Amino acid sequence: MIIRDVSDKQLDILEYSDSRWNISSGAVRSGKTVGGFLLLPLRMTTLPPGNCLLIGKTERTLKRNILNPLREIYGKKRVSDPFGDGEIKLFGRHCYIVGANDERAVTKIQGLGLVYAYGDEITTWPESFFNMLKSRLSEPGAMFDGSCNPEGPFHWLKVGFLDKAEEYGIRHFEFKLDDNPFLSREFVEALKREYTGVWYDRYVEGKWVLADGIIYDMFDKQLHVIERIPEQIRSYYVAVDYGTTNPTAFGLYGIGASGTVYKEREYYWDPANEGKQKTDSEFSDAMAAFIGNIVPRAIIVDPSAESFQLQLKRDGFRNVINADNSVLDGIRTQSRMLTTGRYKVLERCKQTIADYGAYVWDSKAQERGEDKPIKKFDHTKDEERYLLHTLFGTERSVRTMSKRGLGL
Ligand SMILES: Nc1ncnc2c1ncn2[C@@H]1O[C@H](COP(=O)(O)OP(=O)(O)OP(=O)(O)O)[C@@H](O)[C@H]1O
Ligand SMILES: [Mg+2]
Repeated sequence: MIIRDVSDKQLDILEYSDSRWNISSGAVRSGKTVGGFLLLPLRMTTLPPGNCLLIGKTERTLKRNILNPLREIYGKKRVSDPFGDGEIKLFGRHCYIVGANDERAVTKIQGLGLVYAYGDEITTWPESFFNMLKSRLSEPGAMFDGSCNPEGPFHWLKVGFLDKAEEYGIRHFEFKLDDNPFLSREFVEALKREYTGVWYDRYVEGKWVLADGIIYDMFDKQLHVIERIPEQIRSYYVAVDYGTTNPTAFGLYGIGASGTVYKEREYYWDPANEGKQKTDSEFSDAMAAFIGNIVPRAIIVDPSAESFQLQLKRDGFRNVINADNSVLDGIRTQSRMLTTGRYKVLERCKQTIADYGAYVWDSKAQERGEDKPIKKFDHTKDEERYLLHTLFGTERSVRTMSKRGLGL
């Protein structure tokens, strides 16, 4: 990347990052990290001698988001390739690099006195790692610069730290998407379309807001529930959320020539309502009846349902695969597909439709700073998410897509 100019917000960072802790939080793609890139050469050349540390969520994301672009901007002479056990030379100074989620990270920084640390994606770090870092930055004149996207208002970084700016000596810079003048208008519009509700408030407006109430609040019967599929189906898939004492849900999905996904049929077995639990073999028979003569390209199953996966394979079902069960990423994928109209549900899928009104964020977990759905009325939602996220979640979001990739 090339630094063409400096935004007003990045100038703020350059001018006012004179505290022990200088943290930028806010919208995606808003220029926070590049602000840090401008600061790093100053820190490396002006701080007193001592150990320096660069921290990412993982070492891999640190290399991708920070070290590679830094090398592109400043050249190999100033930003070396990593060597040894996670070390680099940065503007002539020796720095350690760690992934905060790495088991070894805490032990790596234990006993290390630091004069400087730079951190990316701080909210994704374990709180224990951050606490350890606080005690490591004990040298007189030590400084920290870092950035993150906002989470809920009760996240440990917000309540335990950023909200105590005076006490800890923190400069907190808050970014909105519109604070970055270097993005094309099309790219910004595409990002704004991608995020709705709480994601919009956090990732576009840069606010630390609660994930509150109904999760798929963009679900609208008028828009998403249809009587008939308006086009030819190119391929079929099945997804499964499995339970023994809990309900089991299957969904049959058709993908049309336009790329739209349609949920055509559902199967729902709630042992509490039916007064009977089913065995794996009975569920496998139910699957055969459910798909009839349709040959799905894959049956995407709850990864914890090993015995049922085995039963399906034994009974001759082909391409039984594990679902990608990353809950929050999956919820974002499903939200995006609903928002962009790429996912529709047939009217006859009654349980699926009813569950949209009951699938809510867990307010108790929010108080602990965690985004989590309530684990009730979530079976059709889990099964839909398995399908949509496993098939379409790897489709890179507009956030990380190049402008060319977006057709801009
Ligand atoms: N000074 C600049 N000169 C040129 N381009 C810039 C500048 N600042 C930001 N950009 C462009 O904006 C993009 C996003 O900036 P940056 O990576 O700093 O955002 P961020 O706030 O860290 O985003 P995220 O929260 O997604 O990590 C950069 O990849 C770059 O293309
Ligand atoms: Mg960033």
